[in-house]
Amino acid sequence: MNWTDLLARIRQEALELGVPSIDMNGFMALRKLVEQYKPQRVLEIGTANGFTAFGMLSAMGDDGTVTTIELDADRAACARRWVREAGVADRLFVLEGDAAEVLLHLETGFDFVYLDAAKGQYWANLEAVLPLLCDGAVIVADDIFHDGLLHKAWTEIPRRQRTIVKRLREFIERLKQPPFYDTAILQTGHGMLLARFRKELYNAI
Ligand SMILES: C[S@@+](CC[C@H](N)C(=O)[O-])C[C@H]1O[C@@H](n2cnc3c(N)ncnc32)[C@H](O)[C@@H]1O
Repeated sequence: MNWTDLLARIRQEALELGVPSIDMNGFMALRKLVEQYKPQRVLEIGTANGFTAFGMLSAMGDDGTVTTIELDADRAACARRWVREAGVADRLFVLEGDAAEVLLHLETGFDFVYLDAAKGQYWANLEAVLPLLCDGAVIVADDIFHDGLLHKAWTEIPRRQRTIVKRLREFIERLKQPPFYDTAILQTGHGMLLARFRKELYNAI
């Protein structure tokens, strides 16, 4: 498999279709995290056309699976087309639907989750994902700076963005609270949250 060529073509498609796609700094950081933590079962919320799902799969070596959820039928169809073309249907599963609903039907045991759907829903998504995670699972959330608005004074944030910024701030604060998560913020440009889930402590309470 020529991953470099495949990833370039998926990226190009995203740009041509105007499908949202991660910034390249974030993409490199995400792949590095997968290489470092060596997960076996990755879960992604927000597939778009599959660029990051394929990026994570390509960083996993020959083992492991990526399960990715996408609400938009056209985007899920694009991602599935790439899955067929790459011949990875046994390792990359594209599930179409609202994550809140789809998550209810998944088997537990994910050791890495990448949150990349609606930013105002990150905490709701994570709460739904927690029962599916292993102890020590890695949690990554992209684009947490929200175009720099995260660090702006409240009065400087456009009104229509305030609910998202408020929810992002709450999401980050919750993940910074000990003892259930070990959390860091990576300065990737768009901002990436990285956390480890301490499930044994979480379940003990
Ligand atoms: C930022 S894009 C994902 C980009 C992709 N991870 C990449 O960089 O290649 C967010 C995606 O999440 C999807 N989405 C939004 N709400 C969702 C939900 N409730 N369940 C599943 N997918 C959702 C959107 O349709 C959109 O395609």
